[in-house]
Amino acid sequence: MVSTRRVLSGSRPTGRQHLGNLNGAIKNWINVQQQGAECFFFSADWHALTTAYENTENVRGDELQMFVDWIACGVDPETCTLFVQSAVKQHAELYLLLAMITPNGWLERVPTYKEQQQNITNTDLNTYGFLGYPLLQTADIIIYKANTVPVGLDQVPHLEFSREVVRRFNHLYGDVFPEPEALLMPVAKVLGTDGRKMSKSYGNDIAVGEAGESLKKKIMGMVTDPARKRRQDPGNPDICGIYMLHQLYSSQDTIDLVNRECRTAGIGCVDCKKMLLEKLDPAQQAIHDKREALLKNLDFVRGKVEAGNNKAREVAERTMAQVRQAMKL
Ligand code: TRP
Ligand code: SF4
Repeated sequence: MVSTRRVLSGSRPTGRQHLGNLNGAIKNWINVQQQGAECFFFSADWHALTTAYENTENVRGDELQMFVDWIACGVDPETCTLFVQSAVKQHAELYLLLAMITPNGWLERVPTYKEQQQNITNTDLNTYGFLGYPLLQTADIIIYKANTVPVGLDQVPHLEFSREVVRRFNHLYGDVFPEPEALLMPVAKVLGTDGRKMSKSYGNDIAVGEAGESLKKKIMGMVTDPARKRRQDPGNPDICGIYMLHQLYSSQDTIDLVNRECRTAGIGCVDCKKMLLEKLDPAQQAIHDKREALLKNLDFVRGKVEAGNNKAREVAERTMAQVRQAMKL
């Protein structure tokens, strides 16, 4: 059953990936991959332009770094199709055709649209491209007739929007597309070194594969429960980024111990952090080694992406032939 699923997901090319990306998305991708689903994972380079159209010089380089990190983390380039959105022009054609049948109100009603316009004030979001973001995303998904899209809770409205567009298309022109379903991912909360959500733009991130001294320095300097000013102050692990990492990397025994002893000041933050490093460092070291090997052989990565582009193009073109026929174009 599972093996017949086609899964698609993508990410804007943000360069080096961090522990938030790994535990939020990449691990879930690896999970569906290991369950035998047919996987398409892509660099959403056009999507990156919806907010960063002025700075395009890093797109190609960032994208390669991102693919390297995905593979180093365990995304299997032999069984998954890795590709670049802009290498498959059919996405743009479908996006344009879908635009003809999509009411403006549907796009304006997507919650992230107003939210981001209000919250992100240092970038110009008053563009047609930004409004159309969920529609381009819809084209990305349905052009592969993907039935499963692993997403975080915040992306669920986007998927609802996609399903609405699919229903409208099928109603107007006949059944071409299946309605894609969200596969709700357990998105682990990962805080950055300053206690805010881990994000490159905050400069508080820990890169995947960051190990040894550099990892140690970041972990030992990381913000914990601010209530623990002195060693004897009890803490609340539930609000501490270190405990969140314990839950992702440490054994159940260690997790239980920290959960108990933090609250009674039985352990101090320094010990707690050292315990975390016992598991986190080797996990990161393994990714580091794979990454180094890939960096010495970037042509291998480029080759996999090239092959992925060709495969994606083939699938997308097959769908577009059906679309053109359905629309009598
Ligand atoms: N919105 C995603 C991000 O910002 C990227 C994306 C574009 C995507 N198209 C998609 C994700 C289709 C899943 C399915 O990272
Ligand atoms: Fe965080 Fe551990 Fe310190 Fe508790 S003891 S505040 S969980 S670092």
